[in-house]
Amino acid sequence: MKRLTAPALQARKGKEPIVALTAYTMRMAQLLDPHCDLLLVGDSLGQVIYGLPSTIPVSLDMMCAHGAAVVRGSWHAMVAVDMPFGSYEESPEQAFRSAARVMKETGAAAVKLEGGVAMAETVAFLSARGIPVIGHVGLTPQAVNALGGYGARGRSNAEHSKILDDARAIEQAGAFSIVVEGVVETIAREVTAAVSCPVIGIGASAECDGQILVVDDMLGMFERVPRFVKRYGALAQEIAGAVETYAAEVRSRAFPTQDQTYAPKA
Ligand code: KIV
Ligand code: NA
Repeated sequence: MKRLTAPALQARKGKEPIVALTAYTMRMAQLLDPHCDLLLVGDSLGQVIYGLPSTIPVSLDMMCAHGAAVVRGSWHAMVAVDMPFGSYEESPEQAFRSAARVMKETGAAAVKLEGGVAMAETVAFLSARGIPVIGHVGLTPQAVNALGGYGARGRSNAEHSKILDDARAIEQAGAFSIVVEGVVETIAREVTAAVSCPVIGIGASAECDGQILVVDDMLGMFERVPRFVKRYGALAQEIAGAVETYAAEVRSRAFPTQDQTYAPKA
């Protein structure tokens, strides 16, 4: 089956909801791919895979390595890769160099970058040069130091209109989709109505054209998750139980048995 393309995803607006999850590894991509339209290799891999305190330290090398793994593990979903902090903000030229490297090394069909009005010129520069761009507005985790935390955005009138301006600016610059993160329902509704490209929400209510979650959050890999996450699995308990049984069987010498043992040559 042919992979979903940026134009095909863009055409979903107002029709079918877009199903998206993050993915960071080959095997997980294989498991998610049959059910998803979009697999995002998020820079959330900083926290989720590497145990870093934020997405700030994530490198282009990390994004390229995981992006390539996710492309290798998928065949139907569109794969988009996050541009990490410091790899695109300086200039449209810097962004193009970084994004071109991501696309060459991973085979991904799109990149995502954070920011609105300030990034519009860059979004236009990439879009005009054959790089499909997904925008990201509202709570933008790479700006955590400027925002002062990961709380929901848009509760004041000034913030509310800034988020709308940001979404409009990157849509007009050519973004084929926009992620809206951590905003109150009214903003999600207004942003979705204001732009002609699909809006994919995370912590942004049901008022969007699609939804994305961090896969480890929704699978129940973590004890604590943000309020907007629904846990569809309990993988942490499943893993802990399996490892507990393995440890007990090694200690009691119940594992391995003859079934797991190579027989000598007859
Ligand atoms: O890095 C990430 O996981 C993201 C999504 C949650 C939108 O940017
Ligand atoms: Na991200």
